[in-house]
Amino acid sequence: MIKNVLVIGAGAMGAGISQIALMGGFNVSLVIKDKYFDKCIEKIRFGLEKLESKKKLKKTTSKELLTHLSRSTNLAESVKKADLVLEAVTENLEIKKNVFKIAGENSPEHCILVSNTSSMSIKALGEASGRPEKVCGAHFFNPAPLMRLVEIVRTDKSSDETIEIVKKWAEKLPCVRGKRYVPIVLKDRPGFIANRLQAPGIIALDWALDYAVENGIPLEHVDNDLFTPFMPMSPLILLDYIGLDVNYSISKHYESVLHPDFKPGEVMSKKIEMNELGVKTGKGLYEWKGNTLPEVDRTHKAGILSLELVFALQANEGCRLLEEKVVDKYSTVDDTLRNGFNMLGPFSILMDGNEEKWIQLLEDFAKKSGKEYLKPCELMKSGGYKEFH
Ligand SMILES: NC(=O)c1ccc[n+]([C@@H]2O[C@H](COP(=O)([O-])OP(=O)(O)OC[C@H]3O[C@@H](n4cnc5c(N)ncnc54)[C@H](O)[C@@H]3O)[C@@H](O)[C@H]2O)c1
Repeated sequence: MIKNVLVIGAGAMGAGISQIALMGGFNVSLVIKDKYFDKCIEKIRFGLEKLESKKKLKKTTSKELLTHLSRSTNLAESVKKADLVLEAVTENLEIKKNVFKIAGENSPEHCILVSNTSSMSIKALGEASGRPEKVCGAHFFNPAPLMRLVEIVRTDKSSDETIEIVKKWAEKLPCVRGKRYVPIVLKDRPGFIANRLQAPGIIALDWALDYAVENGIPLEHVDNDLFTPFMPMSPLILLDYIGLDVNYSISKHYESVLHPDFKPGEVMSKKIEMNELGVKTGKGLYEWKGNTLPEVDRTHKAGILSLELVFALQANEGCRLLEEKVVDKYSTVDDTLRNGFNMLGPFSILMDGNEEKWIQLLEDFAKKSGKEYLKPCELMKSGGYKEFH
C-alpha cells in the first residue's frame, strides 16, 4: 500500500505533484538539491492556501496537510522510507539515470519508481534502477493541480502489478477540474499519447511559417488560419508563451527519434539564433510588453493551414499510435484529448463521413510541403483503425 511518497525535483512539476499528493492523503517527502527548496515549499503552501480560501480542501486545512510534508537534500537516506518515488528532475537522461540508480539501490524492495519525464526513455531509467519491473512513467501536465490527465507509461519490463498500483495512486490525486483521467500508454514511445498527437502539427506550422516568409505573407495571417474565438490563445501566441527554444528542442528531439521531417524550419532556427524566444525575451513570433497579449488583427488569413488539417493530422497520428501499439483503442486517443484538454477527439469527427476528404487533404498537404511524415499512414488509408474499438 502506498503511504509515503518521495518527490524528487523542485521545479514546476515537483511542486504541483507534491501539492496534489498531500491533498490525496499521502505523506510527502521532497528531495531537492539546491536553493529552490524554499521557493518550492512556498509554492506548495500558496497552492494549498488558495484552494482552502475557495473552500476546495475537503475536511482538512492547508496547515494540517503541510504537517505531512518533509524535506531533505539526501536522496539515499530519505528514499529508505518511500513506498513510491516520483522523479521530476531536470530533463536530462544522465541526471535522471543517476537518481534512479540511487533510488533503486537504497529504497525498500516493494518501492515503485516513477518518472514524470516528457521525453526520456523510461526503459533506460528502469535499467539504471536495477529493478525495471517496478519502474514506469506517470506523465503529469502543468499545472498538475488543474490538469486532469496523467499518462501511465509502461515499458516492456514494467510488471502489471506496478502499472495497476501507479494507476490507482494517480486516480486518488485530487484535481481542481474534476476526476483524473489516467490512460495506460502501452509502449514507451516518443510523446506518449497527448504530445504525440500534436507532433505533426509542429512540422506543418514550421513549414507554413517558412512558406509565408518566402511569399511575403505576414506571420499573423498564418496564426489566423488556426485561430477560433473559442481558444484562450492562438497557436503562435501559445508558442511565444511556451518559449520558442522549448519548441525548438522538442522538434530536434523528434527529428532524432521519430522522423527527419521534424528538423526545425528557417524561421524557427533564426529566432533561436537571434535569441527571440517569445514572452521571456520580449520578442518571438510577436512583440511583447511584459506578459501582455499583443493586439492581433484577426481579419486576414494566409489560407495555408486549417483546423480541418489539424484534425486530419491528429487522426493520422492516432492511427500511427494504433500501428505502433501505443494504444489499443481509437477511443483512448479521443478520450485523452477530450479529458485532458477539452478538445474534440479526431476519430469522432473522422468517422462522421470525413474519411476521404481528410485522406485527400493529407495527401495534398504532404505533396505541397514535401513532408513525407504528413502523408496518411496505411491504417488511416485502409480504414483499418475501425477494428480497434
Ligand atoms: N514543465 C512542464 O510543462 C512539464 C510537463 C510534463 C512533464 N514535465 C517533466 O517534468 C520534469 C521536471 O520538469 P520541470 O518543468 O518541473 O523542470 P524544472 O527545470 O522546473 O525543475 C527541475 C528541478 O529538478 C532539480 N534537480 C535537478 N537535478 C536534481 C537532482 N539530482 N536531485 C534533485 N533535484 C534535482 C532542479 O534543481 C529543479 O529544481 C521533466 O522531466 C519534464 O520533462 C514537465
